[in-house]
Amino acid sequence: RAPEPATMVIFGATGDLARRKLLPAIFGLWQDGLLGSAFNIVGVGRQEMTDEAFKDYALEALRTSRETDEIQPGSLEKFRELLYYEYGEFSGDEVYEKVRTELDRAEAAHGGRKNALFYLSTPPSLFEPISSGLGRLGLQNESEGWRRLIIEKPFGRDLASARELNDDIHRVWDESQVYRIDHYLGKETVQNLMAIRFGNAIFEPLWNRSFVSHVQITAAEDLGLEGRAGYYEEAGVVRDMLQNHLMQLLTLTAMEAPAAFDADAIRDEKVKVLRAVKAIPRGRVNSVAVRGQYGPGTMDGETVPGYKQEPGVKRGSRTPTYVALKVEIDNWRWQGVPFFLRTGKRLPKKVTEIAVVFKRPPLGIFPGGLERNVLAFRIQPDEGVSLKFSSKTPGQEMELREVVMDFRYDAFGAQLESPYSRLLLDALLGDATLFPREDEVDHAWQIVSGLLDAWEDEGAAAPDFPNYPAGTWGPDEADTLIGPDRRWRRL
Ligand code: BG6
Repeated sequence: RAPEPATMVIFGATGDLARRKLLPAIFGLWQDGLLGSAFNIVGVGRQEMTDEAFKDYALEALRTSRETDEIQPGSLEKFRELLYYEYGEFSGDEVYEKVRTELDRAEAAHGGRKNALFYLSTPPSLFEPISSGLGRLGLQNESEGWRRLIIEKPFGRDLASARELNDDIHRVWDESQVYRIDHYLGKETVQNLMAIRFGNAIFEPLWNRSFVSHVQITAAEDLGLEGRAGYYEEAGVVRDMLQNHLMQLLTLTAMEAPAAFDADAIRDEKVKVLRAVKAIPRGRVNSVAVRGQYGPGTMDGETVPGYKQEPGVKRGSRTPTYVALKVEIDNWRWQGVPFFLRTGKRLPKKVTEIAVVFKRPPLGIFPGGLERNVLAFRIQPDEGVSLKFSSKTPGQEMELREVVMDFRYDAFGAQLESPYSRLLLDALLGDATLFPREDEVDHAWQIVSGLLDAWEDEGAAAPDFPNYPAGTWGPDEADTLIGPDRRWRRL
């Protein structure tokens, strides 16, 4: 299925995200012939620039990005013809008038359709001015073709501002026109979680409090700040990773089977999980959450600076770069089964995994201890799924050892698509299944705001930062959080 002819309008087209992710993703789709017969891109920015200069800029971005697929001979030159640029102040009307003219111009080439996908790849402070600017000129109006709006996280910085943002957007757009990007949902392996859970009969019967001991969700990053201090100092790990990516992994792991594989059926089930999450206990936040900030340390034999030594970070910064959280879900399926979430920067390696840890067998009849079976979804890298179980080792003795049954994505022999390609194509096709809905974002914020507020109340009881050296698995308190009879997976 190819999308209808459309124009993609990227606000913030000369920014970091557009350069590193969006342009390569669109180029890849276009080169694979997935964008249909008529497609063009209008870059919009505040910076004055000619069409030609923007075309040069975009092609250079494609040549240098690590995300660009293999470039076929002659294709950059053809892609260049699809690109246009407009500039102006986002608070005025002029820039939106120019955008309207671009849509009129595309109309002839697109067989009379004026479909448009507006992508807000800008700092969040510009979401409202751009959304209402488009609204002032009626560019959200679908009488001449569909109109859709993609927004990038962060969707607000707490519950109140997230609600305000949703209200601002809804003054102009209907929720059905809004696509909020969480790139984790575009990852092949994240989608496979649904495929494996709901496309097989053997997992679901075990997927509940009778058989599962606990669940561990890890998103570890080895990288530090990568020059993003301005953003990260404001956000911190809770807003950067926990509120969005980890909450999404949590809901997909814990949700009930939807009645159909469609956007609203799935999102309804995801919201139910978030609604059932137990509130953070005020005054006892340390019993469910641990935060950390990395200090200087060693990664791959090289000394790396601590967070406070990163360029652009305040010397006395209290911004957390690590969080571990125990989530309890108050419903029949998950009563008494904790979900442990952890994520951080400057951990020993880049690895994202969801591990469902099963209960031990009720009785040990063999020598040695009883181990728990683990079904692990390896989101990245080395994408795959593994099942750990005990097996007899060869020989006279009845000796058991843990072994692993492994499925690896390499088996398909295909390269995994970039999450942005998948999500952009879905937005062009009008499929919102992999985009968080307004109420999902709201509920995720309710949970996370509870955590942030509880920490704020705590004041003096906050830990001294830094409390973990770069290159280690985070503060020691995280081991206490998951213990005593459980330990974090060694990844
Ligand atoms: C982004 C965060 O959303 O996700 C980054 O802003 C983080 O801080 C990134 O590094 C991780 O994404 P991925 O796909 O590399 O796991």
